[in-house]
Amino acid sequence: MLVTPVDTQRFEWVHQHWTPRADDVFIASFPKSGTTWTQQIVRLVYSRGLIHDSDPPLHAIIPWLDDSKDLPDLSVVDSMTSPRVFKSHNPYHLLPRKLTESNRLIYVTRGAKDTAVSMYFHTFGFKMYEYDEPIEHFIGEFMAGRVEYGPYWTHLASWYAQRERHNILVLHYEEMQIDLAATVSRVAHFLDQPLTHKEIERIAQRSTFSSMKKDPRSSMQLWDEEQRKPGIPFMRKGKAGDWPNHFTPELAQAFDKEFNVKMSKISWPW
Ligand code: A3P
Repeated sequence: MLVTPVDTQRFEWVHQHWTPRADDVFIASFPKSGTTWTQQIVRLVYSRGLIHDSDPPLHAIIPWLDDSKDLPDLSVVDSMTSPRVFKSHNPYHLLPRKLTESNRLIYVTRGAKDTAVSMYFHTFGFKMYEYDEPIEHFIGEFMAGRVEYGPYWTHLASWYAQRERHNILVLHYEEMQIDLAATVSRVAHFLDQPLTHKEIERIAQRSTFSSMKKDPRSSMQLWDEEQRKPGIPFMRKGKAGDWPNHFTPELAQAFDKEFNVKMSKISWPW
């Protein structure tokens, strides 16, 4: 298993004891599946597409409860106005135990090979992982489930089993790429936020890769400056189907062979 920086004490406490409000919303994902992108869409849905100069960075608007580095003082969430939105990388069964049917959950997924590539650059890029291996090594670890948050396929299976619940919306990174305005519209509908056509267009425009990369609050510029190796930004490439640039045909074949079995019960469209 790769060494991970997850704070298990915080993780456990939030799971067992943290008390949500009835209208709290969660955005969950296996890491590198489009979490930050979804955070941007959701926060803009609630602001009707408006961004003000005084707005804080995205990860302060939608904090990550489990991570004591991202959110050192958990009590700050008590003063957030409702509806609060949180980020999580947990499989379904490790969300806070006290969540109920009134809490809305958005799960975002991304094809396995693109996720593995993105996760490699994430792990290689953040200095705290002290990971300097070549990408072939990381893909091997990903295939064995020895990466942060464990096996990709069990994570997805935990959410797949819940996909019909009325309080869960599933998004796919690849579909978001194809029609961002349609995704914004689905999210707004799911969150009961009626928006005009103009507002939907504005949110879609402000959620593109290039718009988010331009704004230091959504590009996570501070992470790039303080925590990452130079030249490997958090907002890296933002493409679907880029994996052939990093997989040899043989590696892709071996990967597909294994994942076709591991994911045989999950029919999500990537
Ligand atoms: P790449 O490494 O392939 O570029 P997460 O937020 O779950 O950590 O996912 C990060 C991945 O989503 C990165 O992928 C990042 O570039 C991509 N991403 C972030 N915002 C995006 C956007 N607006 N459009 C497309 N991809 C985006």
